[in-house]
Amino acid sequence: MESVTNLNHRAINFFETEKSGAAKTFKFNPLDPEFQADPYPTYHHLRCFEPVHRTFMGVWLLTRYIDAKAVLRDSRFCICATPKKIKERSHYLEQGDFNGLVQATGKWLIYLNPPDHTRLRGLVSKAFSSATVKRLRSQIQEVADELIDKVWDKGSMDIMSDFACPLPVKVITTMLGLPMEDCSKLHRWTDELSSVLDPLRSLEDYERMNKVALEFTDYFKSLIAERQKKPQQDLLSALIAAKEQDKKLSEEEIVSVCMLLFVAGEETTINLIGNGMLALLRHPDQMQKLKQQPTLIQGAVEELLRYDSPIQLTTRVATENVDINGVTIRAGEKVFVSLGAANRDPAQFTDPDHLDITRQNNSHLSFADGIHYCLGAALARLEAEIAINTLVQQLPALKLSTHKLKWRNNVTLRGLKALPIAFTPETTE
Ligand code: HEM
Repeated sequence: MESVTNLNHRAINFFETEKSGAAKTFKFNPLDPEFQADPYPTYHHLRCFEPVHRTFMGVWLLTRYIDAKAVLRDSRFCICATPKKIKERSHYLEQGDFNGLVQATGKWLIYLNPPDHTRLRGLVSKAFSSATVKRLRSQIQEVADELIDKVWDKGSMDIMSDFACPLPVKVITTMLGLPMEDCSKLHRWTDELSSVLDPLRSLEDYERMNKVALEFTDYFKSLIAERQKKPQQDLLSALIAAKEQDKKLSEEEIVSVCMLLFVAGEETTINLIGNGMLALLRHPDQMQKLKQQPTLIQGAVEELLRYDSPIQLTTRVATENVDINGVTIRAGEKVFVSLGAANRDPAQFTDPDHLDITRQNNSHLSFADGIHYCLGAALARLEAEIAINTLVQQLPALKLSTHKLKWRNNVTLRGLKALPIAFTPETTE
């Protein structure tokens, strides 16, 4: 069985693309800690010299805003059949299979193309309305306040483990109407399963994910049975009741949707809070501006989404030959759409490396575009507004406690392992 280290070495070889001719040698390797610490110089270089860049195994990388947006909206590009790929990986196992994971991810919206995608998204959107989301404001604020209360006397905290991680899991658990005591189990499962989003994972990772997918499935099946007998005012009951032309979601689809809500909604929001707070800590003038004018928070969240996107790339497959910027992408070839790079494109954003919480016309691609545009965008925005404003307004004299930051080893999701900060509870600024 292939080890993670071997896989990483193999991936590094695939990814490394040396380019001379320019003033300095440049390498594109998303597993390189230097790239993970700051991917933006590499993106700028690629965008200038090779905006449609061939990486490894024939996967293309797009870094221009205009190309990224066009591909996300173009029906000639479809979603990657990840569950099918996971099934194929089972062949490398000496025994067992990944069927639990294949079945659980089989109905994830992000892995479906029309018409299946259209039908399922319609049904889920009905249950996941913006009215449902708006009702959560006071509950989210309560969770944020409780988390601050726990660390207040210490004068220090790790924003990731003390605040950003517990918040989204509590919110999704509340929305679905699941027991709050299950939060830590659900977070553990989600943390494991979110590796599905990463295109470079070892067989050991898939074995662990398969085990978790089976546990997750059993957990939800028994809850669905309970809710069918006794519906409640929660999202799980709404998903069970949702129907279109008398056709309801199957049990398998409901389990799949619930799992996706955790996977798509947790790590991403955690990283928006973490990356967003890091950006503010590194730009004290912007932090101060927000502290003085809390009503700037909506624009600030948009700018933080743009500045350091929690999802850095998404993948599409060409269904026919398509010309992008003079390069032919052949039918069947894969394309990495770099949302992180598109968001820093100077052709779209004035002074893109500058953080400006009052930026106007901020049409970033952090929630993607086209038919797969993030279903949870309204919820993510609300959570981030409350979380970031609570931290900025309630913690006086906030400052970073370290400059040695470590990033999580994930090609798709961009987020910190820890974000230690200090504040002075007794100071009145
Ligand atoms: C900052 C937080 C978030 C970010 C940056 C984010 C980003 C994204 C992106 C980029 C996609 C499209 C992926 C693709 O096209 O391949 C997506 C899809 C999706 N997101 Fe989010 N998301 C966030 C939060 C959430 C939340 C809180 C939920 C729900 C609880 C959620 C649920 C979904 C779902 C269900 C999809 C699939 C939509 C479809 O394929 O039709 N997301 N998200």
